[in-house]
This record gives sequence, C-alpha cells and structure tokens, in this order.
Amino acid sequence: MTILKDKLTLPCGAQIKNRICKAAMTERIAFSDNYTNQRHLNLYKKWAEGDIGILLTGNVQVDKKHLEGPANVCIEEETYIEQLPLLRKWAEEGTKDNTHLWMQISHAGRQTPGEINSSPKAPSSVQLKIPGRNYGIPSALTTEEIQEIIKKFTFVAKIARETGFTGIQIHSAHGYLLSEFLSPDINLREDEWGGTVENRSRIHVEIIKNIRREVGEDFPISVKMNSADFQKGGFSPDDSIQVAKIIEAAGVDNIEISGGTYEQPRLLGLDNVSINPDRSEVRKESTIAREAYFLEYAEKIKKNIQIPLMVTGGFRTKQGMESAVKSGACEIVGVGRPLCANPYAIKEMFDGKIEQLPIYEKTLSLGPWILSPSSPFRLIQALNAFGAQAWFYQQIKRMGNNKLPDLNLGLFSAFRKDASEDKKAFKDLN
Ligand SMILES: Cc1cc2nc3c(=O)[nH]c(=O)nc-3n(C[C@H](O)[C@H](O)[C@H](O)COP(=O)(O)O)c2cc1C
Repeated sequence: MTILKDKLTLPCGAQIKNRICKAAMTERIAFSDNYTNQRHLNLYKKWAEGDIGILLTGNVQVDKKHLEGPANVCIEEETYIEQLPLLRKWAEEGTKDNTHLWMQISHAGRQTPGEINSSPKAPSSVQLKIPGRNYGIPSALTTEEIQEIIKKFTFVAKIARETGFTGIQIHSAHGYLLSEFLSPDINLREDEWGGTVENRSRIHVEIIKNIRREVGEDFPISVKMNSADFQKGGFSPDDSIQVAKIIEAAGVDNIEISGGTYEQPRLLGLDNVSINPDRSEVRKESTIAREAYFLEYAEKIKKNIQIPLMVTGGFRTKQGMESAVKSGACEIVGVGRPLCANPYAIKEMFDGKIEQLPIYEKTLSLGPWILSPSSPFRLIQALNAFGAQAWFYQQIKRMGNNKLPDLNLGLFSAFRKDASEDKKAFKDLN
C-alpha cells in the first residue's frame, strides 16, 4: 500500500483522504459576468471522481479590475448574491466522494493584463515588461487600499465557507499581488508594508488573521508561496524560510511551495526560459536533476516549520511522489498539468494501472540558438512558454464542456484557438 494513500489530519482538525492535491489551475471558463457557471460544475465533477485528496480551484479573484485572465471567477461584495446558488453547486460537485475543495483566492496586482486594466495597483510602481504582452504601469497602493484588499480576501473566504467549500488558499506565488509584496525588487515601499521580511509579509498576516476570525478554527487555510522568484534582487530562498515561519505563526494549516513568476516561469519547469535574462538566477544542478522542481527548497523550509507542507511542480512518477513524502520533505504532493490530460490519472495510479502520470508539457521545438539565455529572440521565447499553456487551457475548457481531454490536440492549433478565445473574452469584458 502506498504512503500516498495515507490520511492526513490538518492542524484545524480537517482530515484529507490521501496525500495528493490537484494544484490550482485557472479555469478561464467564466463568461463576462465572471460568475461560476455550469462549466465549473462539469469540470470539478470529473476531478472529484479521480480519487484526489484536495482539489484546489483556479485563482478566484477578489477584484474585477484585477483579474489574472478575462474569464476568471470573481467574487465581489456588490454582486455576490447572484452567484451564491452556483457557488453552492460548485462546492457540491467538488466535494463528492469525501474530496476536499479549497478555493484559491487571489488579486493579480501588476500582472493584471492591460486589456483588463491599464493602470493596475501594486505594492510599488514597478512595471512588468514581457515581450508581446501588455501590462500597464502600476500605481502604488495606499494604506487605505491595502486595508480594502485585506477585507476583500476575508470576504471571499467567508463566502467560500458559507457556500460549502471545505478550505481556502491564499495565492501568494507566481508574481501576483501578494507575492509582489514579498519581492524586494517589486515592493519598494518604505512604510510598514515594505522593507524587512516582517513588513513585506504584513499583508499576509493581516489577511490570515482576519480570515481565521471569520471562518473559525476548524476550517483549513493554506498559503501558496514561492521558494524563490529566481530573479536577482528578488524574493530569495532565505526570505522564503522566514516568511514560512511568519505565516505559520499567523495560524495557517498548510503552506504550498512553488516558485517563479511571469518573468522567470520556473513554476512550469521552464529553466531555459527567462524573460529577464540579465536578472535570472541560475538554479542548482541537483535541483534540476530531480523530478520535482522545488523539493530541495521545500526540505529547507520544512526544517523550520511544523505544519504540513505541500510541494507542487514536476511530480510525475509514483516513486518520485512516494519518496518525497517518505523522506519527510512534504506531506502533500501537488499535481497540475497531468490532471488536464487525464482527470482520473491519480485513481489509475492508485489502482495500479499506471506508475507515471501523463506528461504533455511541451514547447514548440526551437533551435538551441533561439532558446539560449543570450538569445535576442525574447518574443519567440515568451510566446513559446506561454503558448504551451494553451494546450492545458484547451483541455480544461473541453472538460468544462463535458468532454474528455483530446490528447491529439496540436500545440499550435491549441495556441491559435486559445488566443482567439482570449481576444473575444477581453472584448466581451469591455
Ligand atoms: C493551465 C494552468 C493554469 C494555472 N493556474 C494557476 C492558478 O490559478 N493558481 C496557481 O497557484 N497556479 C496555477 N498554475 C500553476 C500550477 O498550480 C502548478 O504550480 C504548475 O502547473 C506546476 O505543477 P505541474 O508540474 O504538476 O503542472 C497553473 C498551471 C497551469 C498549467
């Protein structure tokens, strides 16, 4: 019997049926109202049939002016009543078979696409520059606006609990607003929200404490954070250890470790893609050689905290997942892309039908001269890195439409279809 099937009890008392979590993957299947709809129910019905301990939703936004993508779900105090019935149904589908369904809550900060908001808010006015993409110059949040954001996160967590979600996750990874607060090269504030690690993580502590007050002691609260930004002058592995300790003390049940941002997309294992090569930090060879991208960082964090840790990124073999849990590096293994190719892959692994999850992460094969860190073809590299994501978005959309994934789908046609759907969704929003 695999250790991955062991139950896990979280500090709040909630019990998880096994050690696998479907990592948060933005669904981008809402219509222009940004409400939950039937497609979310279809999608999570499939995943809940897949014998996965926790299903994390894709990032649910707290502010319609700061979406990560045009078809995100967003919950706001002014309009939430209209979507309550469907949120309840989403929770009902996603919690079948004793599955936990946790809502990931986020604010896109400076990574809000310019098509949605040409002057987004961020900790400081440091613009994100990605070739071929449009991000506005952000304006620095005032203290009052930071307090508003804390309230928004708390409100969405409260709605998650009330509608039957069994936990929440605060998204502080991958360069979105809360992770921007943690990054010293993006957060240049000189007030109590910037500077020292304590100050940079103050917004997290405030959000966690407020959410805990609202949802009670028995409700799982998780935080997803970076092990590092992999950007010179950015959020470092040492910072991440300090932040993990601060977040643990604030009262969470779990921390999920990932890494990277839009500028250094290491979360997807893209070590050779750096949108900002001058400031890219090289990853250790030993880490690259391992199946899981961030295990080595997680091991160090784990030595400093007591709460269960989740590590996400790159896990593909049963053996790799088992050894991560057995070694004590983490208690939960997060799995993303394989579950877009086969929503039942974990069940099949538990049933002994497969030893390895489906691997479909591919980029267009480009010459090494295009991919080299010193290549002038940054636009092509960026399109390639983000284009590969389109294949997974398309499979999520298919499952939302009650179809199974199409494994014959080509990368290029997925990219074209996704780009045209995004264009339409942006237009519908405005
Ligand atoms: C299509 C897609 C959408 C994603 N959306 C989110 C998201 O909404 N929130 C988040 O924290 N991570 C998101 N991620 C990152 C995943 O949670 C995960 O960290 C990453 O895919 C690495 O895990 P994997 O190698 O098992 O796929 C997304 C990844 C993919 C492929």
